Amino acid sequence: MSLLPYPAMTLLGAGGRVTVRAHAKLNLYLRLGARREDGYHDLSTVFQTIALHDTLEFTPEQGRPGLQLRTTHPDVPDGADNLIQRAWRLLFDRFGERIPQPGIACRVDKQIPLMAGLGGGSADAAGALVALNQCWDLELDRQTLSTLALELGSDVPFPLLGGTALGGGRGEVLTPLPDLGEHHLLLLIPPVGVSTKAAFAWWDEAHPAPEPLPTLAELERLWAQAIRQGEWPTFLHNDFEAVVCHHVPVIRQVRDALRARVPAWLTGSGSALVGLCPDAATALQLAERWQPVAGERCLVTRTVTGPGIVLST
Ligand code: C5P
Repeated sequence: MSLLPYPAMTLLGAGGRVTVRAHAKLNLYLRLGARREDGYHDLSTVFQTIALHDTLEFTPEQGRPGLQLRTTHPDVPDGADNLIQRAWRLLFDRFGERIPQPGIACRVDKQIPLMAGLGGGSADAAGALVALNQCWDLELDRQTLSTLALELGSDVPFPLLGGTALGGGRGEVLTPLPDLGEHHLLLLIPPVGVSTKAAFAWWDEAHPAPEPLPTLAELERLWAQAIRQGEWPTFLHNDFEAVVCHHVPVIRQVRDALRARVPAWLTGSGSALVGLCPDAATALQLAERWQPVAGERCLVTRTVTGPGIVLST
């Protein structure tokens, strides 16, 4: 049985174009463990896909061997380090003999803020794997795509599943959780981003011997109980929040202002803050009336069910 949520048929539109929506994620819950021998950290998290997304359009280009990347955002790196470039290179290196026409142009409509803890780069990488799998008729199943995704980054496997999911290991051990339903969110994007690597170093410095993580089974049980009792917002927690707010006081300022209005927390290693609103009208009204305390930007979005990568023609 194929584990692939994406049909194995070719979805090439006019001119062989493949378009994917690559959705951002939040961490509803994030606990960090100690640094492992391989340099990564074990963690326990609850991932959640949100409506905010980038759009990636892939068009085969005859006679040009590589990937030509064009993006609407001036700060997206366009060299070999770009995760879309790395996804193209990874598939080409592994399956080159099955790829008669490797030349591709990729246009990225970038809507997910960078260095915000919203998983935008990871979503783009996962989107590129799914789109190129279609463009090149590789018929890789989701398990294979997930294994390749982990080579690109710890958060790249999650968008292939999407929705609400428990994450363990370095973020790649995924268990789907029951759908949370639609919740309306106000995101505040401070004018500074946070490097994930730096945030993990701050965590290590502040926690030379972190407490043991809950097992994934324990977390799943507690989560299910909180959902049954309608209390999952009491779960909202992020171990990064204290250290990131300490090192980047502007993030603390924005968080405190948001928290004065609605339940609010940091996502991933930041810098984005998430406010949980009772309904869409409240989220919109908060955004419209928001007086920035430190040059932060507002985005209104909502939780969605998976997958986090959606193909269209
Ligand atoms: O996996 P990814 O390349 O996205 O991770 C970026 C950096 O974040 C890693 O080099 C590592 O320093 C840190 N990291 C970590 N533990 C994780 C995920 C990331 O220490 N579980």
